[in-house]
Amino acid sequence: MNKVQGLFFVAIFSLAYTQLIKGKSLPGCTDRCGNTTIEYPFGISPGCYYAGDNSFKLTCNETNKLIFGGNEVVDISHSGELRVLNRRSYVCYDEQGKQIGRENRWSSLGNLTFSDRNRFTAVGCNTYAFLNTRGIGNYSTGCMSTCVSPRATNGSCSGGGCCQTSVPRGRNYFRVRPYSFSNHTSVHSFNPCSYAFLVEDGMFNFSSTEDLENLRNVTRFPVLLDWSIGKQSCKEAGNASICRENSVCSDSVRGTGYVCQCKKGFDGNPYLSDENGCQDINECTTNSTIHRHNCSDSSTCENTMGHFLCSCPSGYNLNSTTNSCIRKGRPEYYGWTQIFLGTTIGFLLLMLVISCVQQRMKHRKDTELRQQFFEKNGGGMLIQRLSGSGSSNVDVQIFTEEGMKTATNNYDESRILGQGGQGTVYKGILPDSSVVAIKKARLGDSSQVEQFINEVLVLSQINHRNVVKLLGCCLETEVPLLVYEFIASGTLFDHLHGSLSDSSLTWEHRLRIATEVAGTLAYLHSSASIPIIHRDVKTANILLDENLTAKVADFGASRLIPMDKEQLTTMVQGTLGYLDPEYYNTGLLNEKSDVYSFGVVLMELLSGEKALCFERPQQSKHLVSYFASAMKEQRLHEVIDGQVMNEHNQREIQEAARVAVECTRVTGEERPRMKEVAAVLESLRATKTKHQWSDQYPEPKETEHLLGVEILSAQGHTSTIGYDSIKNVATLHIQAGR
Ligand SMILES: *[C@@H]1O[C@H](CO)[C@@H](O)[C@H](O)[C@H]1NC(C)=O
Ligand SMILES: *[C@@H]1O[C@H](CO)[C@@H](O)[C@H](O)[C@H]1NC(C)=O
Ligand SMILES: *[C@@H]1O[C@H](CO)[C@@H](O)[C@H](O)[C@H]1NC(C)=O
Ligand SMILES: *[C@@H]1O[C@H](CO)[C@@H](O)[C@H](O)[C@H]1NC(C)=O
Ligand SMILES: *[C@@H]1O[C@H](CO)[C@@H](O)[C@H](O)[C@H]1NC(C)=O
Ligand SMILES: *[C@@H]1O[C@H](CO)[C@@H](O)[C@H](O)[C@H]1NC(C)=O
Ligand SMILES: *[C@@H]1O[C@H](CO)[C@@H](O)[C@H](O)[C@H]1NC(C)=O
Ligand SMILES: *[C@@H]1O[C@H](CO)[C@@H](O)[C@H](O)[C@H]1NC(C)=O
Ligand SMILES: *[C@@H]1O[C@H](CO)[C@@H](O)[C@H](O)[C@H]1NC(C)=O
Ligand SMILES: *[C@@H]1O[C@H](CO)[C@@H](O)[C@H](O)[C@H]1NC(C)=O
Ligand SMILES: *[C@@H]1O[C@H](CO)[C@@H](O)[C@H](O)[C@H]1NC(C)=O
Ligand SMILES: *[C@@H]1O[C@H](CO)[C@@H](O)[C@H](O)[C@H]1NC(C)=O
Repeated sequence: MNKVQGLFFVAIFSLAYTQLIKGKSLPGCTDRCGNTTIEYPFGISPGCYYAGDNSFKLTCNETNKLIFGGNEVVDISHSGELRVLNRRSYVCYDEQGKQIGRENRWSSLGNLTFSDRNRFTAVGCNTYAFLNTRGIGNYSTGCMSTCVSPRATNGSCSGGGCCQTSVPRGRNYFRVRPYSFSNHTSVHSFNPCSYAFLVEDGMFNFSSTEDLENLRNVTRFPVLLDWSIGKQSCKEAGNASICRENSVCSDSVRGTGYVCQCKKGFDGNPYLSDENGCQDINECTTNSTIHRHNCSDSSTCENTMGHFLCSCPSGYNLNSTTNSCIRKGRPEYYGWTQIFLGTTIGFLLLMLVISCVQQRMKHRKDTELRQQFFEKNGGGMLIQRLSGSGSSNVDVQIFTEEGMKTATNNYDESRILGQGGQGTVYKGILPDSSVVAIKKARLGDSSQVEQFINEVLVLSQINHRNVVKLLGCCLETEVPLLVYEFIASGTLFDHLHGSLSDSSLTWEHRLRIATEVAGTLAYLHSSASIPIIHRDVKTANILLDENLTAKVADFGASRLIPMDKEQLTTMVQGTLGYLDPEYYNTGLLNEKSDVYSFGVVLMELLSGEKALCFERPQQSKHLVSYFASAMKEQRLHEVIDGQVMNEHNQREIQEAARVAVECTRVTGEERPRMKEVAAVLESLRATKTKHQWSDQYPEPKETEHLLGVEILSAQGHTSTIGYDSIKNVATLHIQAGR
């Protein structure tokens, strides 16, 4: 490395150094001398120290020592003190008591003075020393110390080779002179010299073993000097003082002039107004133990201009005695957790409210829908008609949709008893475990709704042991539901032609069934409070219970005939094969239509043949014509069911056949009334029961058999009835008279 490189290096280093350490002097003035900072109001070059007062002029000698009045400056305090190193005075002797060396130090401080925090100190065992000052009284002080042997003394300077005395404040001149009583001849072995010096209080610890010899070779001691600005007090200076921003003026302790101090919480040079002036101390981050915050935790510290705050997180209060945060008596949470919780709870509440509203709306909609169905299904009409018709014989119960669903196991297929023209019949089990039949209209057939209501109305007027009992209805569903008593053993049609035909009804059974049906129809025609025409009498509408007792069912087509009217003009309705041709042609309905249909039923009972059978020859397709022609041609035995006829009942069969043919006469007027038919059949039975009592009750064997059948039995219509659904086809919309 050559010289140029070295210089360059030094230059760079110096530059970096001056940049690193902030200057404390006036702008453009040298602020350092060696390692010592030069602080304004002191300076080394003209214009850089205070107001041309030479007392503030320092020099930086060739070895980079800052010099004031011949003494090296240690440091400069803003509060009016200057610490310098001052040389001691001494006098030394040889063994003979000949003085071999002396140095008396004196100092003149200009406008600076000695601080009273200095001590005048003399060291030696045969010593006395003077301190001469100048000023008021020109007075002197001193101390003496004698000893014959070194007394072990550590630290304190109080006799035994060392003495100390205080010095007055405010003197700018002193002279220190040490003397010996007897030229150290008696103590020369361990103490050849006397020393005297000024030293800052506490900065000299006397050790008798070391210091009596040669003061440990220490030649300079720190001394404090006082300085102040001008001769005026703060009050006198007023706003002419040189105290800058964030600083306060205070009168000098030495009696003349003032000094400036940064305000509490600020640090810097109070005589400067730039960035080196009094600046706010960040108490929260400073290393200085004097300025450091006393909050219990640094994280709670908050710096303010000249101050700091010990802030506490929300929910905590500051205890100003200990500057620590203590939790509030009633904690209030507004942290993120709380906000999150609050938001969540709020959201959940909102969802709850929304779902509640939705539920309500759905419920309302459901209710509205049910009400709508109820109206559509004629609920209003029914209630009106029921209340309007006065006393009703049947308690019609209104079932709920829910109840129906539960009863039918949600309309399970396994519960279907039968399907027919009017709809589907389900087996239902009510909550009280009673078994019922539930008839459900076919969907999308509004004409059936009317029939349902009609049936409810008609059945509500009837209370007869041979009429299937209506228990109630449900109108809240899309299609109305009717609830009947459960009849176990299926229809007469099934027994004669259908799935149960092998159960072979005896003539006695058949006659009894015929009598019961005839009696029922007679009752409907005359004895009920309002005459009723069934309009759809057929074997498929006659149910049999476990005792094979007939129960007339399906009043969907029935009509109530007002008392004052013999007949009624209606749309033609009925089932082909049973339909009264006169009614079919004219649309005029009267009780004789039922008589015709009953005649067909009676013929079925006698012959075991279906009302319409396309397998028979053309002219005898219809049972009525087939039967009538056989009767006419005296070959009745050909058409009577082989299971029925025997040698005992020929007369009865003959008579019954005659009644059947009479009932099916083309002209209604020629047909007997239902009452008369019932009476004839009744009489036939009466003569019969005289001979065979046992016929009134089924034989035990038969009962057993019928119970077994119960499972297979169906109530109402069965899909096996090929022509039942032709009914609607046959419905002619003859509106004569309307
Ligand atoms: C400055 O201080 C450093 C380290 O403290 C020291 O090595 C150096 O001698 C000092 N210089 C002066 C001029 O006092
Ligand atoms: C001391 O201060 C006065 C006024 O403040 C000034 O006139 C005088 O020159 C100063 N003395 C020295 C030695 O600078
Ligand atoms: C600079 O001052 C110091 C301390 O007073 C002294 O030791 C040194 O010899 C001086 N240097 C010069 C070149 O005067
Ligand atoms: C001490 O020394 C001084 C001068 O060297 C001499 O005059 C004086 O007599 C001496 N005193 C004694 C007691 O030796
Ligand atoms: C104080 O001492 C100085 C120097 O010795 C002298 O000039 C001055 O007159 C003295 N003052 C008094 C009041 O004696
Ligand atoms: C005084 O101090 C020195 C050095 O610290 C030590 O060696 C010595 O033992 C001390 N003497 C007494 C009496 O404490
Ligand atoms: C003097 O002694 C005291 C206590 O032993 C100590 O705190 C102080 O630093 C010593 N001073 C010097 C200059 O050694
Ligand atoms: C004091 O200085 C002298 C001469 O310079 C030297 O011989 C001696 O060892 C020094 N003593 C100490 C304690 O430094
Ligand atoms: C303070 O300064 C203002 C102008 O800045 C001046 O008018 C006023 O007299 C000064 N007061 C004193 C006490 O010097
Ligand atoms: C504060 O202290 C840290 C570590 O104790 C130190 O690194 C840092 O320099 C110090 N800062 C000041 C300004 O003293
Ligand atoms: C602050 O703390 C102190 C010490 O724990 C306690 O004595 C004092 O009551 C507290 N002050 C308040 C206001 O809580
Ligand atoms: C904290 O310091 C301030 C001054 O900065 C003081 O007033 C307060 O009493 C101190 N508090 C504690 C607890 O030390």
